[in-house]
Amino acid sequence: MSAPAIRLSGVTKSFGDTTAVQPTDLEIGQNEFFSILGPSGCGKTTLMRMIAGFETPTSGTIELAGVSVTGVPTRKRDLNMVFQSYALFPHLSVADNVAFELQVKRVGKAEVTDRVTKALKLVRLEALANRKPAQLSGGQRQRVALARAIVGRPTVILLDEPLGALDQQLRKEMQVELKRLQREVHTTFVYVTHDQEEALTMSDRIAVMSAGRILQIGSPTEIYERPTSRFVASFIGSCNVVEGARVGGDVVVPAVGTVPATTVGDVADGAAVGLAVRPERISITTTKPEGFAVEGALTESIYTGDEWRFGVSTSPAAHLVASVPSAQLTPELATVQPGGTVWLSWRAEDARALAV
Ligand SMILES: Nc1ncnc2c1ncn2[C@@H]1O[C@H](COP(=O)(O)OP(=O)(O)OP(=O)(O)O)[C@@H](O)[C@H]1O
Ligand SMILES: [Mg+2]
Repeated sequence: MSAPAIRLSGVTKSFGDTTAVQPTDLEIGQNEFFSILGPSGCGKTTLMRMIAGFETPTSGTIELAGVSVTGVPTRKRDLNMVFQSYALFPHLSVADNVAFELQVKRVGKAEVTDRVTKALKLVRLEALANRKPAQLSGGQRQRVALARAIVGRPTVILLDEPLGALDQQLRKEMQVELKRLQREVHTTFVYVTHDQEEALTMSDRIAVMSAGRILQIGSPTEIYERPTSRFVASFIGSCNVVEGARVGGDVVVPAVGTVPATTVGDVADGAAVGLAVRPERISITTTKPEGFAVEGALTESIYTGDEWRFGVSTSPAAHLVASVPSAQLTPELATVQPGGTVWLSWRAEDARALAV
């Protein structure tokens, strides 16, 4: 079996008193689209800069393709990094911007031309090769930065919020393009973002980071459907998290009682748990269903186009949100007024009792 593209073992980084990255072990596979997702300041850029060699780990080791890169400078690592502020040379044409690195490396003229043409084709800029950066849109400039990153054919490309400067529409288009590009160039992409939807859309696997620590690594569906902590449950998508406790094998929520739930990991009897259940996994009805159901009062109905979101107060302390696809809204639900009685229910497999 070949070595992973990137392996971090016990890597940490401190700046004075600040520990930006707590002890981290991580393996990223060859040709994987791997995202690092987390809020501002959680250590994403620091982690990437250590992989790239712009920053030296305080402790631990980093391997690229099975070889330790401790002490190896950035230019000798087989990777390229794309930053949020992708400085292009303003006086050089698109093609010359892309060619620059190859020329520095003294690659032959014919090969430079050939590789630049191919790189521009991959990012669909072949028609704009002679323009200057100032004559391009934001998205086109971003593509030049990508072409520059792939032209040297590194085995790893690190992208730090590369779409941050683009508007929503362009971001969506570039997400699709990036994913296509990654498939075509067979390169490991490590992608930093604080946009959870972006990470879910593009990644093979996602690492969710908080306060310098990777809390969970998994496929988009694992991260979304099976979070192992309150933080991951709430950070990805929208999720109800209600405080409760584990009591004699059951999960009990104050003022509600025993609720269906799947307990995640080892949780001692009496320990506090957060009950995480997504709005789309809660069934909301105007009459009491068979079996488990919680009675509540409707506080609000919000129409978002593809779905209706219902806020329901189930006790003075607990407030839950249930969502219903617009196409499945019943006439009964459509006419419930604020203050009206509704019933909420869910299956044990859709509610996760989380200790952390
Ligand atoms: N050179 C530095 N000197 C001191 N502290 C630093 C330095 N670089 C980063 N930090 C601190 O390390 C922590 C992590 O920063 P980092 O830039 O890795 O966060 P991030 O997850 O990339 O955030 P953002 O989403 O805002 O880009 C922060 O508390 C930051 O202030
Ligand atoms: Mg950053």
